[in-house]
Amino acid sequence: MDYILYEQKGAYGVITINREKALNALNSQVLDELSATLDAVNLEEVRALVLTGAGEKSFVAGADIGEMSTLTKAEGEAFGKKGNDVFRKLETFPIPVIAAINGFALGGGCEISMSCDIRLCSDNAVFGQPEVGLGITPGFGGTQRLARLVGAGMAKQMIYTARNIKAADAYRIGLVNEVYSAEVDAEGNVVKTAKEVLLAAAEKMAAGIAMNAPIAVRNCKKAINEGLDADMDQAIVIEEKLFGDCFETEDQRAGMGNFLEKDKEKKLKVVPFKNR
Ligand code: CAA
Repeated sequence: MDYILYEQKGAYGVITINREKALNALNSQVLDELSATLDAVNLEEVRALVLTGAGEKSFVAGADIGEMSTLTKAEGEAFGKKGNDVFRKLETFPIPVIAAINGFALGGGCEISMSCDIRLCSDNAVFGQPEVGLGITPGFGGTQRLARLVGAGMAKQMIYTARNIKAADAYRIGLVNEVYSAEVDAEGNVVKTAKEVLLAAAEKMAAGIAMNAPIAVRNCKKAINEGLDADMDQAIVIEEKLFGDCFETEDQRAGMGNFLEKDKEKKLKVVPFKNR
């Protein structure tokens, strides 16, 4: 792998898009490597992922403009499909994915973050869909996921104006769940950079998710994602089936048993996916 780093840290993994010289822009190779990295995640052990970008300045500054500049109509469509396929793989990945957005999240960068389950960012993050300024539409899901996340009105404003927004505004409109700043001491010296604070928070969240019943967490992701694509009558049936599934798991028996036995720890034993 030239452009993707992957580290498994116990029950969670950290994927880093590592093309810092180009602000982690997504070319075909980055997309292929990201797809292969997801395929190789050990789902017997890993229960949550963090996705971030190398360096302090940029999460992902978009799809690679150099590569796109000479595409024909058919090639453009194929490039859109390549990105969409990888992002959909991320969106439907069986375990939760937390985007730790450490700077620019523009075009494909904003779009990849929206394919993740949860978005956290540093206070230098900048979000935007600048595509119409480049003569194209958002092509890796931006016209679809942004409206679903922040509502059609705000999505249309961001996409039609091609104007970027800062972290505080992304938080205000619900595009990110939390914004992290650098930690400074009493003299104002930086003890931890905003990215370090962000990554620590994202990893803590991933580790916390990994402590919960893994099949229940997977089923929650599936229920929320599939339910959002269905009408309410179908959606509640999706929920019922995934809820029912849990009653065949060791974690349900252990989790409820702990409660009924008034086990002070109330912690689930870490059970591998043998009851899947
Ligand atoms: N594609 C290719 N290269 C990129 C890039 C991108 N999206 N974004 C940045 N880079 C490269 C630059 O070309 C530059 O490379 P060189 O050093 O070889 O010249 C390097 O990264 C550093 O970038 P800058 O010198 O421009 O850094 P800056 O601090 O002056 O500006 C920036 C930072 C505002 C993010 C600016 O780089 C920028 O505007 N980038 C493009 C952002 C953009 O338009 N993204 C959307 C792409 S279209 C898309 O994503 C379509 C889709 O939906 C699929």
